Amino acid sequence: MGDSWELLERECRSCRECALCQTRKNVVFGVGNPHAEILMVGEGPGANEDEQGIPFVGRAGMLLDDMLAIIGLDRTMVYIANIVKCRPPGNRDPLNVEQDACIGYLRRQMALIQPEILVCLGRIAAMRLINDKFRITREHGVWYDGGGMRMMAMYHPSALLRDPSKRPETFDDMKSLQREIRRICTHTEPKRPW
Ligand code: URA
Repeated sequence: MGDSWELLERECRSCRECALCQTRKNVVFGVGNPHAEILMVGEGPGANEDEQGIPFVGRAGMLLDDMLAIIGLDRTMVYIANIVKCRPPGNRDPLNVEQDACIGYLRRQMALIQPEILVCLGRIAAMRLINDKFRITREHGVWYDGGGMRMMAMYHPSALLRDPSKRPETFDDMKSLQREIRRICTHTEPKRPW
């Protein structure tokens, strides 16, 4: 039998494959358009996301919404998920063993969505989904092909909150994303030009 969103979400919400299930309040499954041509993947839920069960709802999420708005996108036009679906305590990086336990759910989401474009938000997602030696300072904004998608990484919004000097480079990466959307996406028309 084929996979479905219902089955996937049910399995994910009852998952006990790693220790993060013991400290989570909510599984943060993902949000957005299940038919999106653009998939954005962060690292893992923080405290606000764990409380609400929705990715990118804290300060980093507000900045992500602003970044999307710059190129005429909003959350209804993309799908947003994370490498791990449960909060790593104290906001530490997700361990490899936790990523390994969780990545299958994201792969199944990808198979259901079949996005044209994958945007990795930060180093952790890029190392897992583009290549394991990925260097975010050198390779952000660079386009790669893989898994039938165009893929690129940009700085994580939390990194931009910590270090605003990275924002101009991220603005350029967003413009590059907009050009790629216009080039290859058939049903995502950014709302207004920048
Ligand atoms: N940071 C992430 O990587 N993901 C979230 O959902 C929130 C903050």
